[in-house]
Amino acid sequence: MRMKTLTEWLSGQETASDRLRRGVERIGAACIEIAGLIERAPFEGQTGALDSSNVQGEVQKALDVLANDVFLARCAEEPAFAAFASEELDDVVAGAAGGDLLVAFDPLDGSSNLDVSMCVGSIFSILPAPAGKAVIEAVDFFQPGRAQLAAGYALYGPQTMLVLSVGGEVAGFTLDRASGAWLLTHPAMQVPPDSGEYAINASNERHWRPGLKGFVADMKAGKDGPLQRDFNMRWLAAMVADVHRVLVRGGIFIYPADARPKLADGKLRVLYECAPMAYLVEKAGGLAYAAKGPMLDLRPDTLHKRAPILLGSRNLVAKAWEASSGDAG
Ligand code: F6P
Repeated sequence: MRMKTLTEWLSGQETASDRLRRGVERIGAACIEIAGLIERAPFEGQTGALDSSNVQGEVQKALDVLANDVFLARCAEEPAFAAFASEELDDVVAGAAGGDLLVAFDPLDGSSNLDVSMCVGSIFSILPAPAGKAVIEAVDFFQPGRAQLAAGYALYGPQTMLVLSVGGEVAGFTLDRASGAWLLTHPAMQVPPDSGEYAINASNERHWRPGLKGFVADMKAGKDGPLQRDFNMRWLAAMVADVHRVLVRGGIFIYPADARPKLADGKLRVLYECAPMAYLVEKAGGLAYAAKGPMLDLRPDTLHKRAPILLGSRNLVAKAWEASSGDAG
């Protein structure tokens, strides 16, 4: 059977306006270009660290900067996009006058994987822009995740994939290099409600708070412990890749806050990491929590606000949340 293209699939999504559909296509095109940059990077000497750092003091890879430029350049051509916020930029960048959509994005997630040719990704979130406002400011992005009109990610792995929702089902597309089109390979994705896989950076265990420590100990205890099943641990060090696995075959992904002052709010950023991934996981029947409640209820108060995150298979996440929600300070 012939697979639907992204354009064909979008035309059947009744939750999306024409402008939103067009905007999403534009982001899909930017991701194809970023995939090309990543593939060619070893020939261009572009995977090493640059001397510059981003607003959060992290060393930027040349590809982080290039991917950011591509994302902005492609999306700035879209009249629906009023403004952009990026992991790589201190402040909001203006888009089209009269645009009604805001885009927050992480142009290259998991970039520490680049040097070793492992999976990386791009993440995006689309929010409504305030009506009738000539100049968009950072505060206009401070909306809870539930306000998102669309969210998704591109995964640059063995295949290049685009996974997104524009308010309805979560759909996964694979880039067909022969035609240059995104083809629908994973329709109506659903996170299995139970799973025996967990993802957490276990090297930080000594900093974890007691509830989380206890729950991970229960998973490690396997069939002999209170959860009465054996678990496997997976950690790909790129949120896109770990969340993609959760969307396809279930499991739990945890990036907690911990006792270190720098990790008091976790590591991952609300606007362009936690909220879009929580949106996709919930649309696919899973659950996503921050420290004090559902991730999608959290309203960030800065562009680069961080939050602890717990997401994935609903039964497993519910148990993890019950065990660890008392950890929140
Ligand atoms: O954006 C940050 C990120 O690279 C995520 O993609 C990933 O899940 C996480 O950091 C990995 O963190 P750590 O290096 O602490 O394992």
